[in-house]
Amino acid sequence: MRILAFETSCDETSAALVEASNRLRRPRFKILQNFVSSQIKIHRPFGGVVPNLAKREHLKNLPLIFNRFFRHQKINKGSIADLFAVTVGPGLEPALWTGIEFAKKAAKEFKRPLVGVNHLEGHLYSVLLSRDYERLSKKSVLFPAIALVVSGGHTILLLLKSLTQWKKIGETRDDAAGEAFDKVARLLRLTYPGGPEIEKAVRLLPKDWKDTIKFPRPMLNPQAGGKNYDFSFSGLKTAVLYYLRDLGYTEKKIKDRMEIANIAAAFQEAVVEVLVKKTICAAREFRTESVFLCGGVAANKKLREALKLETKKIRVNFLVPEFKFNTDNAAMVAAAAYIRQLAKKKPLKITAQSNLNL
Ligand code: KG4
Ligand code: ZN
Repeated sequence: MRILAFETSCDETSAALVEASNRLRRPRFKILQNFVSSQIKIHRPFGGVVPNLAKREHLKNLPLIFNRFFRHQKINKGSIADLFAVTVGPGLEPALWTGIEFAKKAAKEFKRPLVGVNHLEGHLYSVLLSRDYERLSKKSVLFPAIALVVSGGHTILLLLKSLTQWKKIGETRDDAAGEAFDKVARLLRLTYPGGPEIEKAVRLLPKDWKDTIKFPRPMLNPQAGGKNYDFSFSGLKTAVLYYLRDLGYTEKKIKDRMEIANIAAAFQEAVVEVLVKKTICAAREFRTESVFLCGGVAANKKLREALKLETKKIRVNFLVPEFKFNTDNAAMVAAAAYIRQLAKKKPLKITAQSNLNL
């Protein structure tokens, strides 16, 4: 089945054409095209995504990206896809609507069905686009699995019995991990998006860098007061704010790049430690075969490496998509649409649902 998917939930305009095959036991995906147009430069001066600017950019980019499919010689306009898919939420409402309206028109023009996709299912199934999945699914049992979904708006731990049956065992009570990266980056007067900027700042530090600040590790101990897999990152952000205030850095700017790097690294250490320890604790408690890492924050090298190492220690499979599938893209939306079709899940309403969850 060929699926043409659109993604416009935040600040990336993306369209992808994906060939999906096989059953739910081992679905396979071949990405024929995956165009992503990022609006980072446009939102950067504002320190975050401005919904109406995102809408304007999506409106401008969608037809440009869509027309690029037809420049590709192998794609025949008449038989471009069997199914169209579009993200219906969660995300910024004006941004979601642009994708939905465009997808509706395109599906009508090509006389194909259109299905709605949950953006978070897209992140979850982005794991299926990875080379690790190709390799591991051939020789190992992957379920039950724990999935850590970490993006700008969500931090969720899922226990998956299969690809389509899961239970949410934890989520953030306040800020999402990506949001914490973005807010702390702003405190350090780094630009938007914060995650990659913090990572870049940290690169200045020597290999034998030691954390001398030790920011708090919020809700780290799941054993205390019963197992608890929820997260909370707003206190950590406040701890960074107080640290900066005590050094007199709320009015004056930190000039020393090494000092910025030191604070950024201490913050990153705290986030990574909490995410990794809780995920590993859940993998042990539920005796899972695998751990999946997905969402924009999965692009963080420190997090990928730490989770890879810890999963190796407890001998469970570790799956993380390649970098290009961590942040928002339409290929993952196509994958999620395919899984929804196979599982015969109740269709999602094709309207913008900004608060949709897993
Ligand atoms: O999944 P995503 O592209 O959009 C949402 O669905 O929210 O995630 C964006 C988030 C942003 O908060 C961004 O700062 C964070 O992912 N992010 C990172 C990195 N790259 C993106 N966080 C930490 N390290 C990174 N390398
Ligand atoms: Zn996302």
